[in-house]
Amino acid sequence: MLNFNFQAPTRILFGQGETNKLGKEIRKHGSRVLLVYGGGSIKKSGLYDQVVQILADHAITCIELSGVQPNPRIDSVRQGVTLCRKHQLDFVLAVGGGSSLDCAKAIAAGVKYEGDPWDFFIGKAFIKEALPIGSILTLAATGSEMNPFTVISNPETGEKLGTGSTRLNPRFSILDPVHTFSVSAEQTAAGTADIMSHVFEQYFSPTPGTYIQDRMAEAMLKTCIKYGPLAIAEPDNYEARSNLMWTSSLALNGLLSTGKITDWATHDIEHKLSALYDITHGLGLAILTPYWMKQVLNEQTAAKMATYARNVWDITETDDMQAALEGIAQTANFFRSLGIPATFKDIGLNTDQLTEIAADVTSKGSLGSFKILTYEDVLNILQSAY
Ligand code: NZQ
Ligand code: ZN
Repeated sequence: MLNFNFQAPTRILFGQGETNKLGKEIRKHGSRVLLVYGGGSIKKSGLYDQVVQILADHAITCIELSGVQPNPRIDSVRQGVTLCRKHQLDFVLAVGGGSSLDCAKAIAAGVKYEGDPWDFFIGKAFIKEALPIGSILTLAATGSEMNPFTVISNPETGEKLGTGSTRLNPRFSILDPVHTFSVSAEQTAAGTADIMSHVFEQYFSPTPGTYIQDRMAEAMLKTCIKYGPLAIAEPDNYEARSNLMWTSSLALNGLLSTGKITDWATHDIEHKLSALYDITHGLGLAILTPYWMKQVLNEQTAAKMATYARNVWDITETDDMQAALEGIAQTANFFRSLGIPATFKDIGLNTDQLTEIAADVTSKGSLGSFKILTYEDVLNILQSAY
């Protein structure tokens, strides 16, 4: 295990009814709020009315930025920055999934920066300051509710890039599983796959001696395998939704990556696909993951992949290579059982840009760490996944 520092500064208010504490939580930090949300799911569910009422009851001024798209665009960020400046807002509240949260984070940083907020994503500027942020999460998936990261798309450049800063950790996140009852089967499946992918990216690591991190990771994977299908079959099953929701936060709040090198190759490839084709993040990850697993399986990696197969899928095969292959097959079958297609062709993507994608994601050098991927490796993953 490597040395590490760990701090998870976001206050989590978890459970049914916790939304009522929103006004008090915001009041600790500000009184003039930019409310950031997506395409209207919070209006359908009634959460929007509840939030607006709570803000009014606490004499909190509220200006809205609505219509944040999945794979949130830099233009929404720029709009939010303009609104914050125009109305002298002092707090950014996201109500929604990862896209609303990520947009809110980028706005919060952009307000305190004189240049264009895209500069943060291309490494032209660092986030030194940001408005305080809070969230009410409505979709269990990204972990953005408890982490310092934001991922934003720029359609003009065909890029989808992430950045992070401790300034962007939400001051609080309200996690009421009831708010996720209305999430569709497709988004529940994609969210479950995203959580699992976050775990894989940290679990499959070249760093030895991380027993505790690995057992926690396996527990999170088992939780997704148990409750993902149940949440799809019974959308208002509180036990299923609450377990998925808490796993979403735990999977990407820094806990699993303590003391180890992490991988993130699958995410890097998926982000490029999302940038080009605007696909759902978790869907892209679920399609790529089994092909990534096959690509990285070799004599060096077989033992860890066999451990995954045995501890997560209860595979009893004693030969490591064979056990690993069975674990990969189980992973693919699980995603199919959630209703996720096996290939990109199945979701209508064309294949004419595969070499460009592989070249782009390896342009800054090779990718990943569990097994370092070359251009040819990435191309092979993409060709298999099509
Ligand atoms: O826009 P609305 O109307 O709210 O509908 C959304 C959207 O269409 C809908 N939805 C959300 N909550 C709902 C609901 N529908 C019904 N009932 C509810 N309770 O679901 C759709 C997807 O929402 P979105 O926020 O895009 O999903 P998700 O939470 O999966 O976020 C995905 C984004 O986060 C990024 C992804 O790349 C992607 O852009 N990620 C952010 C990370 C981070 N900040 O740490 C890490 C991740 O790896 C990921 O890259
Ligand atoms: Zn992800």
